[in-house]
Amino acid sequence: MNNVGILISGRGSNFRALSDAIEAGRIPARISLVLSNRASAAGLELARERNYPTVCIPSKGLGRDAYSRLLAREFKSAQVDLVCLAGFMRILGPELVKQYPLRILNIHPSLLPAFTGLHAQRQALEWGAKVTGCTVHFVDEELDHGAIILQHPVPVEDGDSEESLSSRILVHEHQIYPEALKLVCQNRVRVEGRRVRIMPE
Ligand code: GAR
Repeated sequence: MNNVGILISGRGSNFRALSDAIEAGRIPARISLVLSNRASAAGLELARERNYPTVCIPSKGLGRDAYSRLLAREFKSAQVDLVCLAGFMRILGPELVKQYPLRILNIHPSLLPAFTGLHAQRQALEWGAKVTGCTVHFVDEELDHGAIILQHPVPVEDGDSEESLSSRILVHEHQIYPEALKLVCQNRVRVEGRRVRIMPE
């Protein structure tokens, strides 16, 4: 059984989707830690309601490496062996990433490698993209860069605002993130260079 640590910074709707899938028995994993860098994150409240071990480690004023060392300590004490970044708005330090090779997943609201970083949906609109979407990928030492596990496209509509586009993308985030976590937990993901192959059940 995989011990999953979920890292959030805000609303936590992807955390909710992962938790729903795990609790429904669709993913062979247990949530052993929900960690936020913001005390006000709504997702923390949900995690407490669902009786998961929660911890808030404020990141303000801390450099990337110092903060990552604090995270590593929490992962160890909760025996986390797989990490899901779910709207976590801090970049992990390279030392931490190296400790969890192909064991840290992230969801990003664009079809990577397009529109990395913050406000990916706004970037897609401003660029005039006709199609954007979402990506679940492994985390490596570069921002929004690791091997891609799953993606889902979402057409941009003429009347779209950042909010309307974001909410249509989010529907698919909530589908592909639990699916990608399931594949990893079932050991059905083979990584060859940048390419990820999904093994049949
Ligand atoms: C999601 O749209 C996620 O893809 C995005 O933040 C939102 C978090 O929502 N993540 C990033 O932009 C990472 N660069 P949530 O807190 O409701 O899951």
